[in-house]
Amino acid sequence: MKQKLFLSLFFSVLCSVLAGNLHAAEQDIGYAGIEVCKACHQNIYEQFVKSIHGRKEISGSPANKQGCEACHGPGAEHVRKGGGRGVAIVTFSKKDPAAKKSSQCLSCHQDTRSVAFWDMSRHRSLDVACYDCHSAHYGGDKYLKAAEPALCFNCHRDIRSQSNRQSHHPLKEGLIKCSDCHNPMGDFGKKQIKADSVNELCYTCHAEKRGPFLWEHPPVEEKCLNCHVPHGSNHSKLLEKKVPYLCQSCHDERGHPGSVYTKFETFRGLATSGKNRMFARSCLNCHSNIHGSNGPAARGSHWLR
Ligand code: HEC
Ligand code: HEC
Ligand code: HEC
Ligand code: HEC
Ligand code: HEC
Ligand code: HEC
Ligand code: HEC
Ligand code: HEC
Ligand code: HEC
Ligand code: HEC
Repeated sequence: MKQKLFLSLFFSVLCSVLAGNLHAAEQDIGYAGIEVCKACHQNIYEQFVKSIHGRKEISGSPANKQGCEACHGPGAEHVRKGGGRGVAIVTFSKKDPAAKKSSQCLSCHQDTRSVAFWDMSRHRSLDVACYDCHSAHYGGDKYLKAAEPALCFNCHRDIRSQSNRQSHHPLKEGLIKCSDCHNPMGDFGKKQIKADSVNELCYTCHAEKRGPFLWEHPPVEEKCLNCHVPHGSNHSKLLEKKVPYLCQSCHDERGHPGSVYTKFETFRGLATSGKNRMFARSCLNCHSNIHGSNGPAARGSHWLR
């Protein structure tokens, strides 16, 4: 029975194609065409035709397929019934299952490079959809519903408060964007960072920290986040803790140079007063090249210069 129906449908479509009447064939399966939508959705139409999706000269764009109906599905029935909410048209709802939510977009964008890892992204697995961040008609910058970082702060309030701290990456200032470091559509790196490792990410902008150094400080090579936080800190230079406590979380505080109250005469006469070591930049007063040094052995090996 079903087979028969399919065959006859197939046959009638074939006939009309053969008759050179593709347009009529589309109407048969319920497409109305974008000019019909325009009559009642003028505003959306006008924005849409100016945007990338609405431009015929872009191959593969919805404009080159069924226009509005590339995403909303066949709309003839919707039109026949005079339009209206919930009337015979594909819509996008928060209540849809995650897979359905983004499927229209993915039908064209599964091969877009920056969308390649969508399936393994945390956003997808937590039901965030393409249209939570992108509009589909209002083609401003990348169809974004708001500019970064405001777009991301809507959901990531903890990151907003971090980036209000005294020391922060210049996100609010607009010098860098969340998406310089993360791919919101997913990436191989942990936490969707746009590099294979945290260090590789940091080197893309802080190349001078890559070395190679004659004298390397092992925690630096291992992971910048041994000492830094990525978004914001109440301590200077995005440090996780204040110096000297930062250093002392790995270096025995009873050893050189110990605490403020230690006597330092034993320390090869280099320091005249123990207080020097805890003053202002503390350990960094002397160990100034903390990321590594190419200085001569005597001093370089301890990053004194
Ligand atoms: C690329 C896919 C896509 C195309 C093409 C598209 N839309 Fe949409 N449309 C959406 C998505 C996604 C939503 C949900 C909007 C949201 O939540 O931001 C939507 C929402 C809507 C809505 C209801 C919400 C609103 O903004 O009023 C209307 C009406 C609508 N579209 C009409 C149209 C018309 C008319 C066209 C053609 C001129 C069109 N759409 C083309 C994806 C598309
Ligand atoms: C005769 C007028 C008319 C035409 C033609 C028309 N629509 Fe609509 N459509 C409406 C009205 C009215 C609404 C309800 C709008 C509202 O409440 O803001 C609507 C709502 C929609 C919605 C949102 C539905 C929902 O449940 O949220 C979409 C999507 C939509 N139209 C797409 C289309 C597309 C695509 C076309 C062209 C194939 C089209 N419309 C043609 C009148 C029309
Ligand atoms: C019918 C195919 C098709 C569908 C469906 C589609 N797109 Fe596109 N989209 C394209 C093409 C083609 C381009 C231009 C080339 C490119 O960037 O891949 C594009 C470009 C984009 C861009 C880049 C715009 C810019 O300013 O550079 C974004 C963002 C985008 N689409 C998001 C979406 C979202 C979100 C959806 C679902 C609501 C969607 N697309 C559905 C075909 C489609
Ligand atoms: C959490 C927010 C978010 C979600 C969810 C999201 N995107 Fe994006 N998308 C962005 C941002 C931000 C950019 C712009 C990045 C930039 O400026 O480099 C972007 C860029 C794009 C681009 C342009 C890529 C390019 O290389 O120019 C496309 C296409 C795109 N997104 C498609 C999608 C599709 C399809 C989905 C759903 C499967 C999706 N996005 C989900 C935030 C998001
Ligand atoms: C300078 C690069 C950089 C910028 C800019 C940046 N991030 Fe991150 N982000 C990171 C790194 C690195 C991590 C941690 C990766 C790890 O733990 O391996 C991270 C982690 C995260 C996490 C996971 C947090 C957690 O505790 O697990 C979220 C969410 C996040 N970032 C959101 C954002 C948002 C939103 C923005 C923009 C407001 C942003 N990031 C800007 C580098 C950056
Ligand atoms: C609609 C809400 C929403 C928006 C908008 C949003 N996110 Fe998310 N994001 C989430 C949720 C939910 C999670 C999972 C919980 C968490 O880690 O905080 C998440 C997780 C993340 C993670 C951690 C990924 C991991 O592997 O653990 C990063 C990084 C991230 N988002 C970056 C961004 C960036 C960058 C933007 C803006 C372009 C953005 N998000 C916009 C909801 C959102
Ligand atoms: C997209 C480029 C970019 C990436 C990637 C990046 N940074 Fe930055 N970073 C900046 C910019 C821009 C500044 C501000 C420089 C200035 O004010 O002179 C900055 C400043 C800093 C500062 C000094 C902050 C202060 O308060 O003075 C530290 C520390 C830092 N970054 C560490 C890191 C670490 C660790 C990573 C890797 C997780 C990283 N950065 C990745 C661009 C980047
Ligand atoms: C052992 C702890 C430690 C590790 C690990 C570390 N840093 Fe730092 N970093 C510091 C300290 C301490 C300062 C403050 C130096 C100062 O004030 O002179 C600093 C300052 C910075 C600054 C701002 C001042 C400057 O020198 O440009 C940047 C940028 C920076 N670090 C990037 C990185 C990057 C990138 C990595 C990973 C390759 C990294 N750091 C790993 C301790 C560390
Ligand atoms: C995450 C742990 C960690 C942190 C934090 C850390 N270091 Fe180190 N540091 C090491 C390791 C591991 C070595 C190598 C020890 C070795 O070779 O015996 C080292 C070596 C050193 C050396 C050379 C020791 C030697 O015997 O050659 C100095 C000096 C030093 N660190 C100073 C500092 C200072 C100053 C800070 C704070 C800004 C700091 N370190 C923060 C782990 C850390
Ligand atoms: C007044 C200068 C000065 C200050 C301040 C200082 N150091 Fe040193 N540090 C040195 C010198 C010089 C050496 C090399 C000593 C040697 O050759 O034995 C050294 C050696 C070290 C070593 C390797 C040898 C050892 O004793 O284990 C470590 C680790 C170290 N310092 C950590 C720190 C930490 C952590 C701080 C801050 C709490 C700090 N230093 C503050 C001058 C200083």
